[in-house]
Formats: sequence, structure tokens, C-alpha cells
Amino acid sequence: MTTSVIAATGLFTPEQSITNEELVAAYNAWAERWNARHADRIAAGELEALTPSSVEFIEKASGIKKRYVLDKAGILDPARMVPHLPERSNDELSILAEMAVKAAEQAIAAWGKPVGEIGAVICAASNMQRPYPAMAIEVQQALGIEGFAFDMNVACSSATFGIKTAADFIASGSAKAVLMVNPEICSAHLNFRDRDSHFIFGDVATAVIVESAGTSGPGGWDVLGTRLKTVFSNNIRNNFGFLNRAARHDADAISDPSPLGDGKSDKMFVQQGRKVFKDVVPMVSDMIVDHARDLGLDPASLDRLWLHQANINMNEMIGRKVLGRDPSPDENVIILDDYANTSSAGSIIAFHLHQQGLETGDVGLICSFGAGYSAGSVFVRKR
Ligand code: COA
Repeated sequence: MTTSVIAATGLFTPEQSITNEELVAAYNAWAERWNARHADRIAAGELEALTPSSVEFIEKASGIKKRYVLDKAGILDPARMVPHLPERSNDELSILAEMAVKAAEQAIAAWGKPVGEIGAVICAASNMQRPYPAMAIEVQQALGIEGFAFDMNVACSSATFGIKTAADFIASGSAKAVLMVNPEICSAHLNFRDRDSHFIFGDVATAVIVESAGTSGPGGWDVLGTRLKTVFSNNIRNNFGFLNRAARHDADAISDPSPLGDGKSDKMFVQQGRKVFKDVVPMVSDMIVDHARDLGLDPASLDRLWLHQANINMNEMIGRKVLGRDPSPDENVIILDDYANTSSAGSIIAFHLHQQGLETGDVGLICSFGAGYSAGSVFVRKR
């Protein structure tokens, strides 16, 4: 079987960002307006007044201090609370493809080989801009890549599922090198009027080039093993789809802030955060430990963890369970404070930004988990 190498990575970070202070001020202004608009019904006991969000809660519960976004103004406007991302004509590069291309160009430049050597493009992300034609095919065309391309969606786990798919293509001889991109416009499926979750996500795109060990140069990371797992759960869910497109909570028509009346909408991201925490931490920790042992690796001696950036408590607990001790910040990379949860891109951002200090032969883990539930582990060794 041909083994694979993670040969290069790339990252596109939007120019605009939002601090917790700015986000909370916008939410609280919106909540005040909502309470004023519904004052009679609140006084009559028919509706509950909305309570303010707080910076302290957000930092403690999530570890997030800011997030990058494509459109700050639309999100922070209390009369809108949705990014303003104008539709483009079919002749222009789509916004999701554009982000992916920027990340991919960085990865290709770091790789230093012609795009003609890439045989496939996978766009693996939690929200595609449209059903078809595939975003991946648009990215493929923009970059002048031949071969084939397709989209896949495994929510926050999309990147590790994408890396495994790429490695399997290489093992079977379908391609010698695969470009896998993770463009995430999380701000467009996050409900900024939901106090429980308005702070969670940010926008970003990442790119990974997976190449056959037979053709790759001396750098990069050997892929030692990949493993995937899914278990159905409703605890993280988004019901938006082509059968209910008119029902989406649309902030452009904002005479009443929400069809459900309290900022909630099941046509955007919703989760039972506590249940997710309780279910996913053991599922992911056990999977990592079992996978490591099956590969003949001692989980306690892993040199670095690049976990999905879900929230600080979940990441720290998984790190502790895998290593059997409190990991140092160098061992369990956290980029949540800066980027927030960026769905499938989180573990790849961590991997891309934090490889310093590792030597040839050091072993690390790229791992993602999220809606589905879904989880993927990719063990890598520095070449
Ligand atoms: N500001 C202030 N207080 C808030 C708040 C906000 N924005 N959002 C919720 N609260 C309050 C709640 O009303 C509740 O108050 P109460 O105890 O008086 O009822 C309290 O904070 C705790 O709320 P809860 O939702 O139970 O918070 P939590 O401690 O579970 O943290 C998450 C929420 C989402 C951060 C946490 O559950 C989590 O990290 N879950 C993992 C899920 C995850 O990361 N999913 C991402 C996809 S993988």
C-alpha cells in the first residue's frame, strides 16, 4: 500500500475580527430592543424577557476572546445580526471558493511543486454555498488543476474525513497528490441572536496537500494512520435545507426579530452544549487512545495534539484523558482564543500555525469531532 504524506498546509484568515466585548454589546442592544418591543407580553407573563450576554461567561465557558469574520458590520448591527455577503454572479468566483483558493495558493506555494501534479480536489466543510456544481470543482478550475473534484460534509470533522479520503485515494492509486480545502463561513449559519451560542464560531479557510510518500520531498509529515467514527445524535443540528428554504430566520426582514420569538431558530446551528460535552469527550478520547495503541504508539508520549477547536474545557479534558496528565500549552495546541471554533478548519489551523520545536521522528495527532456525531484521528510523524 502506498503511504501518504501531509506535504503542505495553507491558511486564509479574514481581515475583520470581532472581540467578545463588541459581540456582547451588539447582542445586548438587540435583546433590549426585543424586550421593549414585547414589553406588554413580557409584563403579562406570556414571554420571558431576554437576559444579557456576558464577556466573562463567554471566556470562561469557551476560551474564546475574538473571532475572524467576513463581514463585521452586518453581524454587529443590532437591527440585522447577520453578515452582509452580497450574492455574486455566476461569472464571478464564489465567496466560499475564493477563501479556499487563497488557502490553497498558500499551501501550493509552500509545497513548491506544479499544480499539474495534483490529481484531485476535495472541498470538505460544514456548509457548502450551494448544492451544485461542487465548490471543489470551482476551486479546481480556479487553480488550473486537472483530474476530479467533489464536496463532502461531515460538519466539524470534515477535515480529518477529507485527509483520510485523500490518503485512501493515494493508497489505491487514484491520485498521487490531493488538495483538500476547508472553507468555513460559520458566521452565516450561526444565530447571533441566540445567547447560548452567539459567541461560538468564526470564519476562515484551510488547505492541506496530501501526497504519495513515493513522490514527496524530504519535508512534511508521514501519515501513520487514519480512523473515522460516526454515531447519530440530534444534539448538534441545523435543519436548514432545500425543503424549508423559506422558513429560514432571515434578518433582512426584521420587523420581528425571530419566528420562534426568542432568538432561536432550528434553521441555523443549535446545540445541547452540555450533552455534547458529555457524549463527545469520552467518544473522542477512547477513539484516540485505541487508535494510538493499534498503531503501536503510546498515547502518553505523543509530542503534540492538534485537536478540533471546540471549546477550552472540552479540548483540555480530551488532552488530559489522552496524555494521562495535564498537557502543557505546547503539547495541546489551543487557538480558540484568537480564532474561536472554526468548524472543520480548527485542527488544521492549529497544525498549520504550531509545528515549532518538533524534530524529525516526533509524532502528533490531528483530530476533529463534531456534529453527527463524527470524529476522525490522523496520526502523523515529522519527516
Ligand atoms: N452570557 C451569559 N450567560 C450565559 C450565556 C451568555 N452568552 N449563555 C448561557 N449563559 C448562562 C445560562 O443561561 C446558564 O445560566 P443558569 O445556570 O442561570 O441557568 C449558564 O450560563 C450555563 O449555561 P450552559 O448552557 O449550561 O453553559 P455551559 O457551561 O454548558 O457552556 C457551552 C456552554 C456551549 C460553552 C458548553 O456547553 C460547551 O462547551 N459544550 C460543548 C459543545 C461544543 O463545543 N460544541 C461545538 C461543536 S463540537
